[in-house]
Amino acid sequence: MRPFRSPTVTVPAAALTFAIALASCATKGDTVDACLAMAERGLRPVSEERSKRFLGKVREDTAQCRGGERAVAWRSVPWLDWQSYWATGDAGSRAPGSDTTHLSANGRGIDGALLDLEYQRIELIKFNLFDSSGTYPDYVRGRDGVGGRALKVWPEMRLPKGHPLYDAVGGDGTQLCRGEQIRFRQLNGLCNDIKNPLMGSARQAFARNVQFEATFPDLGKDVLARNRHGERLGLLTPDPQVISRTLFTRAQSRPELCREGHGLPGAAADAQCDYKKAPFFNVLAAFWIQFMTHDWFSHLQEGQNGPGTMAVGCADASQGCRPGDRVDPGLVAESGDPATFSHGGKPYLARPYRTTRNNVTAWWDASQIYGHDETSRRRVKRAPSDPAKLLLVSVSGRPGAGERQGYLPLLEAADPMLPQWSGQEATGFPDNWTIGMSFYHTVFAREHNLFVDAFRAQAAATPDGDSGLRHPDRPTQVIRYRDVPADDLFEIARLVVSAEIAKIHTTEWTPQLLYDEPLYLGMNANWSGLFRGRELVERALERVTTGLGTSTDEKATTQWYSVFASGPGIFGLGSARTSDGTPWSLANPEHVNGGVNHFGSPFNFPEEFVTVYRLHPMVPDLLEYRQWDADPNRVRDKVPVVETFRGRATQAMRERGLASWALSMGRQRLGALTLRNHPQFLQNLELPRLQTETGKIDVAALDLIRDRERGVPRFNEFRRQYGLRQLTRFDDFVDTRLTKGTPYRIEQERLVGLLRQIYGQHRCDASKIITDAQVNADWSRITDCLGHPDGSLVDNIEDVDTVVGWLAEFPRPHGFAISETQFQVFILNASRRLFSDRFFTSSFRPEFYTHLGVQWVNNNGPDRRMEKGEPNGHEVQVSPLKRVLLRTIPELALELDPVVNAFDPWARDRGEYYSLEWKPRRGAESDAAFSERR
Ligand code: HEM
Repeated sequence: MRPFRSPTVTVPAAALTFAIALASCATKGDTVDACLAMAERGLRPVSEERSKRFLGKVREDTAQCRGGERAVAWRSVPWLDWQSYWATGDAGSRAPGSDTTHLSANGRGIDGALLDLEYQRIELIKFNLFDSSGTYPDYVRGRDGVGGRALKVWPEMRLPKGHPLYDAVGGDGTQLCRGEQIRFRQLNGLCNDIKNPLMGSARQAFARNVQFEATFPDLGKDVLARNRHGERLGLLTPDPQVISRTLFTRAQSRPELCREGHGLPGAAADAQCDYKKAPFFNVLAAFWIQFMTHDWFSHLQEGQNGPGTMAVGCADASQGCRPGDRVDPGLVAESGDPATFSHGGKPYLARPYRTTRNNVTAWWDASQIYGHDETSRRRVKRAPSDPAKLLLVSVSGRPGAGERQGYLPLLEAADPMLPQWSGQEATGFPDNWTIGMSFYHTVFAREHNLFVDAFRAQAAATPDGDSGLRHPDRPTQVIRYRDVPADDLFEIARLVVSAEIAKIHTTEWTPQLLYDEPLYLGMNANWSGLFRGRELVERALERVTTGLGTSTDEKATTQWYSVFASGPGIFGLGSARTSDGTPWSLANPEHVNGGVNHFGSPFNFPEEFVTVYRLHPMVPDLLEYRQWDADPNRVRDKVPVVETFRGRATQAMRERGLASWALSMGRQRLGALTLRNHPQFLQNLELPRLQTETGKIDVAALDLIRDRERGVPRFNEFRRQYGLRQLTRFDDFVDTRLTKGTPYRIEQERLVGLLRQIYGQHRCDASKIITDAQVNADWSRITDCLGHPDGSLVDNIEDVDTVVGWLAEFPRPHGFAISETQFQVFILNASRRLFSDRFFTSSFRPEFYTHLGVQWVNNNGPDRRMEKGEPNGHEVQVSPLKRVLLRTIPELALELDPVVNAFDPWARDRGEYYSLEWKPRRGAESDAAFSERR
């Protein structure tokens, strides 16, 4: 192998233009000086030590150069600096008189934000990968002279003896998936990485993003954790139900119209359940993410936790909670003391104190639709008339051009299922079934079938044409359209649907979740690169990137790889340009697999990722039901979400139809992710299967209990571990940009008071070191006093549950529906699940997807369409979910016409540059939702 030489360029590609720009920035005198000082100093090096990382905080001159005085002032708070740079908010954040070229103030703001984000990603890849399945000692120590972060194959990812495919992949020798095993996404996720067959398959261990020693703080096994929390933590301490009732409950102005989320009889439109709304994100977005999580991870096996039940707190019923609630304990994989090892004189744990399994595939493979093992696959019904299709049945009696595409069939008695799933639609992942799940499963089943129809039409028109598909055993033999069997076409459609879903999530859902310019650019760069339309640059960068991927130099294969991938984009990496410069060949395993990079740690989601997806406040209690063919501006009913749970979701879908549900959820705003905003019905959810005294469970409290069961570090250490600045008191949660005495600020201060009431205070001991993840600004160790005088009364900020902490983060970047702590977790894992997946990188090829499949994914459908105008200053293709909806529910064409992003409330006027204003677009003035001020 050719030795890797560090690139002569010393700045990330994403920042190249920015660095050049600095030398000649020309605004006010102070800013010029600041920019020059910053340029002269050069870019900060990537930290060599965990404890001295970037933290998203820049020097004063850098802040001045990128955002002026406002940015300088913001440096004193713990929150990310880039949110105060120029042009990173709405129109008001733009520098007066500046355009958006790289040299301008606005350009420096946006480029600076992108640069900060790139540093975060590099350091996250460097410091936050902890695999729990046994590979960690090699990651730290390296193997056979290769540094751990450059390792690409692990014995733990081999198929064990006795596995049905053991011999097929090479048995005792070098294991390599080949032939039939590598053609499509395998049901249980095997052989995505052809050299690591087990990686990402169902029932592999959840990884971690935090040092193993920082997990399970309440076990008190680690001295730093003991110093951090004293004796204050336990599974039910502080009481999770009391936290839920005090910090999570939605205040109701008319409780009699809400009735704990049950609304009024007959779904009367007079019902009212108050909730805090996010003006730029709709209910479709809430259910989208539930739909995604069902694909990515599940701690439950076929909807089941561990045996028996356990208490769930509520020592004091006067708080409104229920002492009689009980719940089944979470499943645990390994719980004995972990092995230890040492390296460089330092002791390490080989895994967390306990591990859990991800019971579904970790790949973005639409396993929620298609199943993840033999049991779940038995629920997936194919059309007898054409087995390439999913079975959809007609439900008669409704107008609408999409209706004839049909609805999912119901589970049958012979299907594997829990009793509570009976009456639901049949699909791979049926747990926690809601109207939103019914919606998306139906939409994507229709989309699957539409792709099959298009393929069949192509095959009828050009039966002898080259489909692009190849069999790895006969790589040069053309497979004509007419020769593609139905089973293969089913799998090709699955590949296409999975890639469409990943694209929707990356380029449509996330840029609306994080609605500002840096994130729009950043997410689109993840998918299609920073140099769209500049093919020469892209080609060169792709070749460099894939070359870096094969390097055994740790820095090259991680840090530089991540940086250069921003050029061509992660999606499709290695599918055109190979690292050795030869044409891509299916016969060459290095080409098939050459675009993946796991950065030295096998891919699976970390436990911490699940924590930041506990997004229950997004769900409203009542759905504002509208009818697509009779005045969409009118809310006809308020349907309680709880009445659309499980089999009742299916019933509601069939009775009212896909188009009206799309319209209703498309127009309604979702719940903001903040304190005191959990749905009432989830706090009082009936779970008769538990056969407990109350038969109910508080899901909001359960979110905390599950995190504690799984040893997620508490909020402040969580932030330190992820390279974010710690808080030193509850008051840090208050957004100091708000003027004192204004209603929002008063409310935040009140909630901070409640945090103090729940978590309390203690007299601190400055001799107790509490972390080794970070140090103080003067390089001293962080102690129990968090910088306050020894012996003083300090807030128990260390004990705050992570979900509580991120909900309490009031200061957020513009347009962020989530907090910066959650976002930090996404930066790492959202790109990793693309980097690690062969079908999104080097195997995104016609040999697997067919020519039609590749075009379908690239064009968002059978043809390419551009959106009218330039939303937020960009020429954009019609967005992928909008295209899917236009195909699967064509009767919504008129309603969808002005929609730019399917997750922005459909009747909202998007206004200018990332406006969050809640005002109606033309034609929706009479929509009652706009008469509410918030
Ligand atoms: C009607 C709506 C919903 C209901 C009834 C519901 C119910 C539940 C329940 C009962 C659990 C606990 C499972 C357990 O640990 O025993 C759970 C877990 C969870 N829910 Fe929801 N949920 C809903 C919507 C959502 C949404 C919109 C999201 C958004 C992402 C979400 C994300 C999660 C996550 C991440 C978990 C943890 C899963 C795991 O541990 O593997 N849920 N939900």
